[in-house]
Amino acid sequence: MYETPNINTKDEVKKSVVEKRVQRAVAATSISYQHRDSPLKLNETIDKIVMEVENYMGGGSDMQHRDALDVVQEFSYELSKMSGKCLDIGSGPGDITKDMLLPMLGENAEIVGADVSQAMVNYARKNYCDSKRLSYMVLNIETSELPADQIGKYDNALSFYCLHWCNDLRRAFENIYKLLRPNGKALTMFIGRHGGFNAYTELQQVPKYRSYLQDAHLYVPYFQRRLCTDIRGSLREMLADIGFEILHCSTREKSYKYSQQSLKDHILAINPFLKRIPEDMKSDFINHLVYKVINKNALIPFKKNVNDHVILRYDLLIAYVQKPLLTV
Ligand SMILES: C[S@@+](CC[C@H](N)C(=O)[O-])C[C@H]1O[C@@H](n2cnc3c(N)ncnc32)[C@H](O)[C@@H]1O
Repeated sequence: MYETPNINTKDEVKKSVVEKRVQRAVAATSISYQHRDSPLKLNETIDKIVMEVENYMGGGSDMQHRDALDVVQEFSYELSKMSGKCLDIGSGPGDITKDMLLPMLGENAEIVGADVSQAMVNYARKNYCDSKRLSYMVLNIETSELPADQIGKYDNALSFYCLHWCNDLRRAFENIYKLLRPNGKALTMFIGRHGGFNAYTELQQVPKYRSYLQDAHLYVPYFQRRLCTDIRGSLREMLADIGFEILHCSTREKSYKYSQQSLKDHILAINPFLKRIPEDMKSDFINHLVYKVINKNALIPFKKNVNDHVILRYDLLIAYVQKPLLTV
């Protein structure tokens, strides 16, 4: 028998998530060694995504957790109405899937967490899977060929902080459309624009890093890479063109305050290039990247004191859409 998580209020959700994250961050160290000692066979996409579980859980994902919580709170009514099979795309380590999303859905809902990274799926299965209403699988949401047995299987889809990783955002949304049943709904939140990504393309110009960052532009979020000024309008157009009914589509101007250390942790957690950089260049590379990110994007820069904070701003895109009942 499974136990329904005993979480009803938003504050309880928040407290539970924070407490559990601290426990998991401590446990994460052992996972990192397992992962390094027995490296997974990398397929083409997994090779591209090099977000390390241990970095992400070890303090590098606070911004993502805050923003996910904001959306979960704002859409709590819509989430509570979700029942049946729900896909969480880019479920990562699984903590948000289990502790933040599952308790907010209707009692009859179950979640399948999906991630392109086998390491993330392994971690989620091991640490965040003690409910019959929850399972995990490897799935690339950008794939040109969805597994046939997944098509039309889901009543709802959720995706937080994942879709900006997709080079082909349109294909990702087309796949979400295919995965949903008629009338199925999807709530997605991802980065529309963050100046920090320009630091990648700038470091691409530095001769000693060039060979490691040749594809740096592909990691700049879809609409930012295309220099769209109206990212919300562009997303709306894309979603409508695919066939979705748009229930909500907005941009949110956000900012986040970092200490020197927390900024470094964050950059380490989401850095797709670090694995490629030789050991003896890593520290220099990270410092260079941090400098570029601050130099280009800080709303309020660091001053001389190491205890100072920096504030970075960015734009999130939120879309809540529905696949129509009658599709042509
Ligand atoms: C920043 S984590 C977000 C985890 C969690 N949803 C959260 O809000 O904290 C992004 C996750 O998306 C996954 N991801 C990136 N590209 C993907 C793709 N094409 N298909 C599925 N998952 C993908 C990454 O492997 C990573 O685990």
